[in-house]
Amino acid sequence: RPYLRGVKVLVDGGMDIVPDIYIQPEHQRLCKSKVCPDTQDIPVIDLRELSNSGNRPKAIAAIGQACQKWGFFQVTNHGVPVATTEKMKEVAYEFFELPVEEKMAYHATSMSSKMTMYGTSFNPYEDKTFDWRDYLRHSCNPLSEENVSSWPANPPSYRQATHSYSEAVGSLCKSLLRALSESLGLSPEFLDAAFGTPNERFLLLNYYPPCPDPALALGLSSHSDVGGITILLQDATSGLQVLNDGQWIPVKPLPGAFVVNVGDQLQVLSNGKYKSVEHRVVLNSECPRLSIALFYNPSFNTVVSPVEELLDESHPPLYKEFTFSDYKKRFYAKLDGKACIRSVQTTVE
Ligand code: SIN
Ligand code: FE2
Repeated sequence: RPYLRGVKVLVDGGMDIVPDIYIQPEHQRLCKSKVCPDTQDIPVIDLRELSNSGNRPKAIAAIGQACQKWGFFQVTNHGVPVATTEKMKEVAYEFFELPVEEKMAYHATSMSSKMTMYGTSFNPYEDKTFDWRDYLRHSCNPLSEENVSSWPANPPSYRQATHSYSEAVGSLCKSLLRALSESLGLSPEFLDAAFGTPNERFLLLNYYPPCPDPALALGLSSHSDVGGITILLQDATSGLQVLNDGQWIPVKPLPGAFVVNVGDQLQVLSNGKYKSVEHRVVLNSECPRLSIALFYNPSFNTVVSPVEELLDESHPPLYKEFTFSDYKKRFYAKLDGKACIRSVQTTVE
């Protein structure tokens, strides 16, 4: 298959048209009339309020509201040092700047590979239409020698920067899961315990080169996230859009903030109260965009089903139980909107 080496190498080589394989079917393309003008935005929540006992209930309620209505929110004052996020972005850029042969040393032919993996599109061995994206993904839990030594050795500070970043964002996830548990009326440790140990954590570094015709291609096709919660760091270039009531809402980059979103597992655990919402990445012709996602997921063998405490006669379970590993297998076969979560619903829509 051509194009396995990524999009950046094409663009750097002077590609000034969009090759056919990247041209989206018409209904998937960027259609300006379906993009919301700049009047609405997803909620921004100041996490400093969580450590103020007087304001904590209000902040928790705001998080719960955001998860019900949007499935997305941004957080400020989240406790991850600026130096840590800036350094992470720097090493991520430097990784994508490496010669393509060096990146290809991490190429894998299977998405289920636990190893560090450099790739392009979503699953380039299955995708019919390619996404205009290069990526690097690897586990970041546990932060063991075995794991860390599989990460890129270049740039030289990659491992150290990523180690600090994973640790800091991991604690942020734990504090968000406590707030999310409380927002559902559960004990603070409930959700993290429901994820099992050791929970799975992945880092995904996304690089979207400028595109000669942003109206034809997508950086990332519409999907919902497969896991528990996702914490996203984006650079100053916009591109992320969230589906809400049939409209695409751009998520404006907010300096210093993280974007947080509900994944399929939290939708199932909350019995549909919290929404794992479809999102996508659109392109521009001017500058590259970088984003870094940390996925905080149940452990491989965890059996996931709606939390019993949230069920009663008028709230029957909306989803069947499954193991997280089985669920992921379906997800990796194809990036297809919300097809995956529909397959575990107890009733057909
Ligand atoms: C993702 O959905 O995993 C990435 C989103 C982004 O690049 O903003
Ligand atoms: Fe996503």
